[in-house]
Amino acid sequence: MAANNEFARSILDGLKRTPKYTEPRWLYDAVGAKLFEAICELDTYYVTRVEMSILNAHAADIADALGEGVSIVEPGSGAALKVRPILDALGPRAKAYVPIDIAAGQLAATAAELGKRYPHLTVSPVATNFFAPFTMPPVDNGVVFFPGSTIGNMPRESGVEFLNRMLDRSGATRLLIGFDLVKDKAVLELAYDDPAGVTRAFKMNVLHRINRELGADIDLRTFEFESLYNETSQAIEMYLTSKIGQSVHIAGETIAFAANERISTEDSRKYTLESFSDFAAACGLKPVQSWLDDDQYFALMLLSR
Ligand code: AVJ
Repeated sequence: MAANNEFARSILDGLKRTPKYTEPRWLYDAVGAKLFEAICELDTYYVTRVEMSILNAHAADIADALGEGVSIVEPGSGAALKVRPILDALGPRAKAYVPIDIAAGQLAATAAELGKRYPHLTVSPVATNFFAPFTMPPVDNGVVFFPGSTIGNMPRESGVEFLNRMLDRSGATRLLIGFDLVKDKAVLELAYDDPAGVTRAFKMNVLHRINRELGADIDLRTFEFESLYNETSQAIEMYLTSKIGQSVHIAGETIAFAANERISTEDSRKYTLESFSDFAAACGLKPVQSWLDDDQYFALMLLSR
């Protein structure tokens, strides 16, 4: 299991705890990434579509708020689709772009493509897992761009720590971040438990992955997917629940489940403009401006230190 050390350690560590959990980052192997793309195409999953519509509708305004000589630092940049409307609107006002991603191949290809498309832009990719310590060149007039409501996956303390780390390491003084807003419970629950079962498959894949990569013997038919909106914590909570009492074997270790014992696979926090501002204050950040869609489903917020 040497090649899978970090995965094995994280999975075993999480499953030995009470309550049991798996880190959301393990959802995104090749199969999981495809399933997440499929989720983004679902009518019920508004998140990606609405955020993109806000970026497209308000790009000129966002660019004006960012101003001249801007350097954009984007952790988890992927195909860098969301930064494009902003780069288009900034034009020569954009000075540098620093995409940070663990997928080195895609990162290099994306950086090359953006360099060609925006000749005035200095593109400096950083290939790293941003959970690990890493260094990056400090930027002038930097803004950390963190779309996708990925922040909603992080417990408050980890979120504060992550944002502080990104700002400190890059020397950026501003943050442009996308987060999902508190809304009708039925809309939220449908978005995170779609009738076609894509979200369920996305979650079940982590068990497949444990079987495949760690030689485990989990019988997937004994687990069910549960998704619910917790109105007190304002978060969608997603679980894989063992329907029966059982023991499974993972990388040579035995993990016992009681009947109906849950594995927490992901929380997806929802915010109001106020609750997000409170959270950001813990990073020394103050809201500058926000952009919302007409339904007020999602927000992009610019904040400054
Ligand atoms: C990738 C964290 C933005 O929380 O909406 C979607 C992940 N999980 N459906 C989200 C997810 C189940 C998603 N983020």
